[in-house]
Amino acid sequence: MKRSRIMLAAATLGLCAFLTGSAGGQPAGGGKRSLGPRTIAPPAPVWIIASYDSAGRANMMTASWAGVCCSRPPCVAVSLREATYTYHCIMASEAFTVNIPSVDLAAAAAYAGTVSGRDTDKFAATGLTAVRSSLVNAPYLGECPLVLECRLVRTVELGLHTMFIGEIVDVKADELILGENGSPDPARHRAFVFSVGGYGFNEVGRTIGTVPELAGRYLGAD
Ligand SMILES: Cc1cc2nc3c(=O)[nH]c(=O)nc-3n(C[C@H](O)[C@H](O)[C@H](O)COP(=O)(O)O)c2cc1C
Repeated sequence: MKRSRIMLAAATLGLCAFLTGSAGGQPAGGGKRSLGPRTIAPPAPVWIIASYDSAGRANMMTASWAGVCCSRPPCVAVSLREATYTYHCIMASEAFTVNIPSVDLAAAAAYAGTVSGRDTDKFAATGLTAVRSSLVNAPYLGECPLVLECRLVRTVELGLHTMFIGEIVDVKADELILGENGSPDPARHRAFVFSVGGYGFNEVGRTIGTVPELAGRYLGAD
């Protein structure tokens, strides 16, 4: 029962071939193997999208087909299947929050991506707190260290997924994850990404260098 639920969740992302070990692939030349037209674009974020349903009940779901899509106005895009409860919640409320969890919320993120809020109260089940945003008609996770409050500005039907574009009206962060420059510090935040192949989560790792330092290796050679 448990496994079939997880397989169903994986199927929604088109990942069953990986889980069953049937992801074959053809030699493509140049030492590379063709994996076919699949949604393999690591690293995929792990976001928990929170919204209210039409009765005002808070729900959350995990989404990885997501990212920043505009700087001005600041916007994010998250792609949801119509089958998710969240799809209908956001269509009705025209708002959502993006909650970017730390590793201590990994089990809750996995759970929120496995069961539907249509028949389960995921906040009650996980013990997490739904805090009402004062800026948009959506809740956020009190325990999550980084939260983006978004108002829906556009939807784009793509196929299985519909892309929801939200304008970020505020970002809220726990002091504990902020670095000296006032922005989230990856080492303090300890966010994690979704590994499509292994259907698992991987913690975001060490800093390799700043962009000016790294680009400087080539700029110096001009
Ligand atoms: C790591 C992970 C990432 C996921 N990403 C997405 C996604 O981007 N879009 C989507 O429609 N479903 C995604 N899912 C599946 C939904 O989270 C899942 O169907 C969830 O039960 C929907 O909850 P809801 O019905 O309460 O909205 C993902 C699941 C996991 C475990």
